[in-house]
Amino acid sequence: MQVIVNTNENINGTLVLPLWQDSKNVSDGSEAGVHRSLKNQIENILSNGDFKAKAGTAMTLAGTEGGKALLIGLGKQEDATLQGMRESGAKVTASRRNIHGRTLTVKFHGVDGAHMGAFVEGMILRDYSYDKYKSKDDDDDSDEGEITVHITCEDDKTDDLQKSADLSGAVATGVYLARDLGNAPPNDLYPMEFARQAIEFGKEYENVEVKVINYEEAKQLGMGGLVGVGMGSYRKPCMVIIELNGDKPGPSPIIVGKGITFDTGGISLKPPASMDEMKYDMHGSATTFGVMKALAASGHKDRVVGMTCMAENMPSSNAQRPGDVITTYSGKTVEVLNTDAEGRLVLSDGLWYAGTELNPSYMIDLATLTGACVVALGHEATGLWSNDDELLNKIKVAGEHCGEIAWPMPLFKAFEKEMTDSKIADVRNLGAGRYGGSNTAAAFLKQFVPNMEGTENQIPWAHMDIAGTAWGAKSNKMVKTGATGIHVRTLHHLITGQ
Ligand code: BES
Ligand code: ZN
Ligand code: ZN
Repeated sequence: MQVIVNTNENINGTLVLPLWQDSKNVSDGSEAGVHRSLKNQIENILSNGDFKAKAGTAMTLAGTEGGKALLIGLGKQEDATLQGMRESGAKVTASRRNIHGRTLTVKFHGVDGAHMGAFVEGMILRDYSYDKYKSKDDDDDSDEGEITVHITCEDDKTDDLQKSADLSGAVATGVYLARDLGNAPPNDLYPMEFARQAIEFGKEYENVEVKVINYEEAKQLGMGGLVGVGMGSYRKPCMVIIELNGDKPGPSPIIVGKGITFDTGGISLKPPASMDEMKYDMHGSATTFGVMKALAASGHKDRVVGMTCMAENMPSSNAQRPGDVITTYSGKTVEVLNTDAEGRLVLSDGLWYAGTELNPSYMIDLATLTGACVVALGHEATGLWSNDDELLNKIKVAGEHCGEIAWPMPLFKAFEKEMTDSKIADVRNLGAGRYGGSNTAAAFLKQFVPNMEGTENQIPWAHMDIAGTAWGAKSNKMVKTGATGIHVRTLHHLITGQ
């Protein structure tokens, strides 16, 4: 989507008119350039109460000599929020059909800059579909090509709005990338293919370096968690490290992603229903890669590192078994009681490596870690755990700002105890019972956060369980279907303040 902000009176293509609830007419500032007959038609509809402009509603007008229009309800002005405006913007894209064409003109008047920016952001975010694998009829040219959106508003607001639209566009390239990766079928997106795509990305930007730790190197380094999970697959596991502005001094934020390109459960095989969805089990890594792209595209100047822990969890004669004891990169041993609790195993190596080798100021991991988190929070919020209240709060606030809710969850000592009482190893990968499963998973991860050098205090770390928010979130209006690209925007905002 191309967004051009100006004060031009011309209307290119279809007029898009955002209206506050119960508007009775087209505001003076918005009427410039609108053909008289179209304006009359709109005002008839408004004064008759045929379009009340409630939030989430839209109406198309066509058939007059005055051109076409798409009316968009913003809801009550006094209730306006950034997220509400984003959702109204998304409604424009969702409502656009062939009849509207691919050129639109949005006319704003009397709307403040932040709200207009959010509306534009919503339009951009909703403008995504995954059709790489759909055949197209040769003669079907109905819905092709980029959408061009002209925006008009008051003179003194255009520069800021254009800047905000450009930033939204740059960050959205990271969101789209995360969605593309999340939606990709697991036969085509496996660990070393993810690595290949990261290497290609590194070639696009001078300030991005990509390093891959392949299977052989992971074995040599003693990454028993990654190796244990990935060794049952013909497609071998790897770690991918994407560093932005490596020449700038650290310590810096490090994002660590769970990247299971397909989770069968391994020998603890999952039931067949909805197993196909386990292709999204790499969305933590998809978000990590997406954040790095968003940061590079928006011109971030400081150092940030993304580390993705990639493996395919398959049953085979070479797969790890329930009962195995593995030695992780940290040196701690883990009793594998269930091979389906594999995300925490690959992350144990990722977190320890990030903490000891990558010079973090803080570490945030993202993982589709537990079904229990979906039971707890549904699709409405990501579970958020942290050993540092300040970091937790910053992530929560950034999530709220972006309309991507992350909800605080507890790291009780009892959960840690439960995970460290294995009879034969340091840690067990399964809780003692089935209750509080997302909390015991977080408590497991905490065992693999190193201390800050020369201290007894752990590196500030947060864990985000995105099992419910990475897909299937019908209430997420920014996405039509499939992978959501969740938290690319939250983390971009957290890291850059923009
Ligand atoms: N990838 C799953 C978690 C998951 C479940 C994500 C549903 C999205 C939707 C994870 O690897 C897993 O299988 N977790 C187990 C852990 C259990 C064995 C302790 C789970 O949640 O059942
Ligand atoms: Zn699993
Ligand atoms: Zn998994």
